[in-house]
Amino acid sequence: MARAFAARGHDLALVARRTDRLDALAAELTARPGGPRVETAALDVTDDDAVAAVFSRMREELGGLDRVVVNAGIGNGRPVGSGKPDANLATARTNFVAALAQCEAAMEIFREQGSGHLVVISSVAADRGLRGSATVYSATKAGLSTLAEGIRSDVAGTAIDVTTIAPGFIRTDLNEGMSMPFAVDGPTGVRALVEAIERRPAHAYVPRWPWSLLGPALRLLPMPVVRALT
Ligand SMILES: NC(=O)c1ccc[n+]([C@@H]2O[C@H](COP(=O)([O-])OP(=O)(O)OC[C@H]3O[C@@H](n4cnc5c(N)ncnc54)[C@H](OP(=O)(O)O)[C@@H]3O)[C@@H](O)[C@H]2O)c1
Repeated sequence: MARAFAARGHDLALVARRTDRLDALAAELTARPGGPRVETAALDVTDDDAVAAVFSRMREELGGLDRVVVNAGIGNGRPVGSGKPDANLATARTNFVAALAQCEAAMEIFREQGSGHLVVISSVAADRGLRGSATVYSATKAGLSTLAEGIRSDVAGTAIDVTTIAPGFIRTDLNEGMSMPFAVDGPTGVRALVEAIERRPAHAYVPRWPWSLLGPALRLLPMPVVRALT
């Protein structure tokens, strides 16, 4: 997504824990004359104070933030009650509590600026409580989608937009080795993500087909069918 947004002329602030990867990407993107400005910073999004500090520093360094994409997420849960709560607690902290900290920091900046675009990367998994190792993941994504809807309602009619992106399956490190119906490769997923984000809708399934049919259908199907499918 960073490469695609850079190609569209956006300056970028890239944050994650593995800064070697971010710095290599920044070097690649800024190597071409006339390329974008790219700032990088180490950030563990589960560190609330660091989230606020890094967002504020990136805003100062770039002279403002037009858009924040709340993307960091993990998916390594366990069935609830299986005696291994750590993975589920970590999933809840990263995917929901840390996402809330990022929304707080982003919205504070956007409210001061009077404009901005908050994007949260939720999931089709938000549409239904899923079983087994996906239970907490689906709950965090449902929470994130509901959080974004509430913020969107707060700022309706202003120059601040809030977009919920609900990907289906895009092959990445997150889901390596998983069996995934209708999965697309990284470049196809990125094209669909960037196109959806640039439209600034309230909600978008990505890729649109088949997920804009399957997501709403998942909400209506009886539980035995959902259990069989997921
Ligand atoms: N791929 C799919 O099919 C799919 C479907 C639906 C939703 N999603 C959502 O899409 C988002 C991106 O997932 P992905 O598939 O691209 O997974 P990924 O390849 O594993 O990437 C996850 C990213 O999150 C960052 N991250 C994780 N924990 C972090 C932390 N504590 N602090 C800062 N950064 C952290 C990682 O960077 P560092 O490790 O360097 O920090 C990495 O860049 C997630 O929210 C995921 O739930 C993905």
